[in-house]
Amino acid sequence: MLRVALALQVRPCKQDDLPAVHRLSVENTSFDATPTLADTEGLYHRNPEYFYVASDESGEVVGFITGYERRGIPEEVLRTWKAARVGYVELMAVDLGNRRKGIGTRLLNTLLEHFRSERIDLVLLDVPVEQMAAVKLYEKIGFNVRAFHMRKYLTNGAGAGSGI
Ligand SMILES: CC(C)(COP(=O)(O)OP(=O)(O)OC[C@H]1O[C@@H](n2cnc3c(N)ncnc32)[C@H](O)[C@@H]1OP(=O)(O)O)[C@@H](O)C(=O)NCCC(=O)NCCS
Repeated sequence: MLRVALALQVRPCKQDDLPAVHRLSVENTSFDATPTLADTEGLYHRNPEYFYVASDESGEVVGFITGYERRGIPEEVLRTWKAARVGYVELMAVDLGNRRKGIGTRLLNTLLEHFRSERIDLVLLDVPVEQMAAVKLYEKIGFNVRAFHMRKYLTNGAGAGSGI
């Protein structure tokens, strides 16, 4: 485990990394509609400075994280939140074969450090309920739950009673 941690590099994402990031994103994260490579490229080009990848000793991308600064929040809301600037963690994933090696933690801490260096003092994120590994990671880093995002089907359609 230590050997892997030493060989691992967390670095800013480059355009060339996007196909690998896209694969990780499609294979590991939950979406209502499967993103295309163009969607992933759009995500990168909107906020390239807050986009990081983890690569192993062979240079293979084994994880990524992306976020952005939430702008345009009214002053009164910021006062209520006791925050000056707000960041948002948009998406992260670590390749299945490389989990529980601290890679997710390193990616998240890198993004949070970058937010902090930009004087962002509050960070928000949303996570699908089935992604319990992510919830555990976020809690370990110090995030706490401030809302539940709930839904109920009013028909007997496919989703009714599924609990998701
Ligand atoms: C969430 C995710 C990125 C974590 O990556 P990771 O590299 O395995 O995370 P880490 O190794 O840094 O784990 C840090 C801590 O998080 C918690 N954790 C991570 N995975 C866990 C799991 N499957 N079960 C319970 N706790 C878990 C543990 O406390 C862990 O510390 P420990 O290993 O010392 O016990 C990875 O599981 C993933 O890609 N999940 C699918 C995509 C996803 O849910 N993305 C987030 C929402 S968009």
